[in-house]
Amino acid sequence: MYRIAPSILSANFAKLGQEITDVIDSGADIIHFDVMDNHYVPNLTIGPLVCEAIRPLTDAMIDVHLMVEPVDRIVPDFAKAGANIISFHPEASSHIDRTIGLIKDQGCLAGLVFNPATPLHYLDHVLDKLDLVLIMSVNPGFGGQKFIPEALNKLKAVRQRIDESGKSVMLEIDGGVKTDNIAEIARAGADTFVAGSAIFNAGKDNDPHRYDTIVSEL
Ligand code: DX5
Ligand code: ZN
Repeated sequence: MYRIAPSILSANFAKLGQEITDVIDSGADIIHFDVMDNHYVPNLTIGPLVCEAIRPLTDAMIDVHLMVEPVDRIVPDFAKAGANIISFHPEASSHIDRTIGLIKDQGCLAGLVFNPATPLHYLDHVLDKLDLVLIMSVNPGFGGQKFIPEALNKLKAVRQRIDESGKSVMLEIDGGVKTDNIAEIARAGADTFVAGSAIFNAGKDNDPHRYDTIVSEL
């Protein structure tokens, strides 16, 4: 089953509620919520207050991608704000297993995120505990960057590990996903596709087909 996760990083923040309602009405399955701290990544975005504000707008899962360091102290705030999935970067956590446990103790699904140069060995002792693996196909920090093709090999490797584990783990891709590469990304093994600029900047503000366009390529 494929899922599209529009990244609201590229939404018009002056009318965020309407933007979210639009993509949900178009069929989006998950809202991808990029949290940046101007420390782990060189950009600053949104936090638990915004998550809490959008929570009543939809039953869709809110997929919180933490690009923050340290990770642990912000996890309970996002859980209380209604996050369903909380993912973090292994480099930003001193104790990866502890952070995964903390996310799950808060009742959320846990994800681990791999930057383009982050080795997959971080999966070695925790894959069984994860609900999601997120492969970054750009360096984190900004929307609208170009897809790094090496991410396809990484996806294939992780798909194999997930299949061998026999566990149900979502495999998500994030960065530079467009209509012209989403089918190839799906063939490499991803089942969940973050798309920011491809959805929110694709056409006019009120273009009802911007979401359908990317789905149609799957
Ligand atoms: C980048 C973020 C992405 C970003 C994707 O650090 O994690 O979620 O918004 O944007 P596009 O789809 O425009 O590459
Ligand atoms: Zn993201």
